[in-house]
Amino acid sequence: MEIERILIPSDRLQERVKELAREIDAAIGESRETDLVLVGVLRGAFIFLADLLRALDTPAAVDFIAVSSYGGGTQSSGDIRITQDLTASIRGRDVILVEDIVDSGLTLQALIQHVGVHRPRSLRSCALLSKPDRRVVAIEADWTGFEIPDAFVIGYGLDYAERHRGLPYIAILRAPEASLD
Ligand code: PRP
Repeated sequence: MEIERILIPSDRLQERVKELAREIDAAIGESRETDLVLVGVLRGAFIFLADLLRALDTPAAVDFIAVSSYGGGTQSSGDIRITQDLTASIRGRDVILVEDIVDSGLTLQALIQHVGVHRPRSLRSCALLSKPDRRVVAIEADWTGFEIPDAFVIGYGLDYAERHRGLPYIAILRAPEASLD
């Protein structure tokens, strides 16, 4: 088994997603002119986005963007490429980038720049997880679910080599023997 231990159990995840939704409703949904679009960052954010969308009272459209940064390993390459772009216009709309995790911060930084070019009315970000110890650029999502230690995490959308995305909790990956040092 590749799981060392459960870091965030399923009920705690669901509770926090509901809290984030209430905070987003309060910040964004109060304006009658709100035209909210959740932009999920593929692939890791798709489960978080689905739960967040269902917890929001504010009506929201959904779009996705895909980036490549990690390859198949566990380290950020710093090489951020947009591999699938938005499908709908976001001009003049209220956009929230939905991320599973902010690690080095390079992906979020690149996405804010990329999406901002399309002139949304507002552009904010919501990340389920953050690893502050790993930051190489000073950036935080506007909403963060949990700050976690510098361990490789899987589950609830997050993978290791495309495995474990379907776990209902966040767990710490057992270090592969070859990479122990
Ligand atoms: C992860 C995650 C973020 C990014 C964060 O994606 O979904 O997009 O890395 O890392 P950073 O802050 O160091 O830039 P990953 O490339 O693992 O792809 P996936 O979501 O498809 O699994």
